[in-house]
Formats: sequence, C-alpha cells, structure tokens
Amino acid sequence: GRMIVTIDGVAASGKSSVASGVARALGIPYVSSGLLYRAATLLGQEAGLDLNMTAPLLACLREHPLRLEPLAAGNRVWLGQRDLTPDLHSSAVDRGVSVVAAQPGVRTWVDDQLRALTPPFVAEGRDMGTNVFPQAPAKFYLTASPRVRAERRSRERPEDVAAIEAALIQRDALDTTQSAPAPDARVIDTGPLTLEQVITVITQQLPA
Ligand code: ADP
Ligand code: CDP
Repeated sequence: GRMIVTIDGVAASGKSSVASGVARALGIPYVSSGLLYRAATLLGQEAGLDLNMTAPLLACLREHPLRLEPLAAGNRVWLGQRDLTPDLHSSAVDRGVSVVAAQPGVRTWVDDQLRALTPPFVAEGRDMGTNVFPQAPAKFYLTASPRVRAERRSRERPEDVAAIEAALIQRDALDTTQSAPAPDARVIDTGPLTLEQVITVITQQLPA
C-alpha cells in the first residue's frame, strides 16, 4: 500500500543501514534525508560560501539542482551527471552539515523534496517522524552510546575512535532541536544488537 516507515536517530546510530535492510525486506525504496543536507553542505563548501548564510546557499542550490536517487541498495545524490555520493561522508562535510541543517530555509528545501516522493518508502533522518511525515503509521528512533557509535563509524573514517566520538557528541548537540523522537516512535537501543537483529525487531513491529 501507501506505507511510510520512519527511522530517526542520533548520528551513526545505524539509520541508513537499518532503513536499507527494512526497505529490502519490504521490497520498497528507502530515502536518506541526511544525504540531502550533506550534499547541500558539499555544494556550499565547494562554492566557497559562508555556510551560515541561507540566501547564497539557496541561490546556489537553485542554480545547481541536486537529485536524490532513492536506490534500495544505497541512496545516491546527483549534481547533473556528477555522482556526489562518494564525497558526502567526509569529515569536512560531517563538520559543516549541522550549521547548514539548522537553517529553516534549507530544511524547507529538503522537506519539499521528500514530501514530493510517492509512498511506499522507508524515510530515515532526524525529523522524519516528527516534522516531515507525522502521519506515518510506523515510527522508530535508534540510539546507542557515543562510544559504540564511534567504534562503528571508525571502520568508515580515517580518524581515531576518540576523535570520532568527540565529533559525534558535538554534532548530536548541534542537532538536538530537530532530533527529538516522535511521541509515537518506538525507541531502540542498537548497542547490544546486530544490524540484522535491529532490522528484525522493526519488521516484526510493522502493521500488517
Ligand atoms: P547512520 O545512518 O545512523 O549514520 P549507518 O547506517 O551509517 O548509521 O551505520 C553506521 C555503521 O554501524 C554501519 O557500518 C553499520 O553497518 C554499523 N552497525 C553495526 N552494528 C549495527 C547495529 N546493531 N545496528 C545498526 N548499525 C550497525
Ligand atoms: O547519521 P549521520 O548523522 O552520520 O548522518 P546523516 O543522517 O546523513 O545526517 C547528517 C546531518 O544532517 C545531521 O548531523 C543533521 O545535521 C542533518 N540532518 C537533519 O538535520 N535532519 C534530517 N532529517 C537528517 C539529517
């Protein structure tokens, strides 16, 4: 049917891996909202913009439209023929993204693109269950301790675990405004679970 499943949570809690697994189990796409914030950040950084200023960034995004491709195996973001995806998970983008995501004009730019998508899909990010898809019938919120998350992410970044943990804690703090769990979300601590177990917990909770 027209099902929307939302999976929100803190940085590196497993949202995109879990959303991809749930989506594959259901045979539907998933949508990574964070990739759009990351792509806007990369575009602004490459253009040499002050990331605190909304108007020049939105003008840049209008001139260089980004396209989110919600592939089940992994979402991609395109700038024309250029695939930005391999450049979106750098520590430089990690450092800049929260300042970009804090701006209401940027959030509207992301939200409009997400709301234009046709369900069914799994949407992951920070505010999918609260702000973008409050009507979704199935909502989840992933957590794990900063150390666990840093250890997982250290397999995907060149920095050491302590530096990654400090950066995650700082980003969580900058993201708190948009990161509250929806009142009707099921909160899952992924710390003691494997990726497969988290996916199973979610698929077993879904309405028929
Ligand atoms: P996010 O989208 O929240 O940043 P990711 O999906 O990128 O998180 O997950 C970060 C890493 O944690 C991935 O490499 C993922 O495979 C790994 N991971 C390990 N164990 C788990 C688990 N129990 N739940 C979710 N992710 C896990
Ligand atoms: O999981 P991780 O935090 O590493 O990355 P992400 O989900 O790609 O999100 C990157 C950043 O985008 C977050 O730190 C937030 O600043 C922002 N974001 C947001 O504000 N709202 C969303 N729905 C998704 C991401």
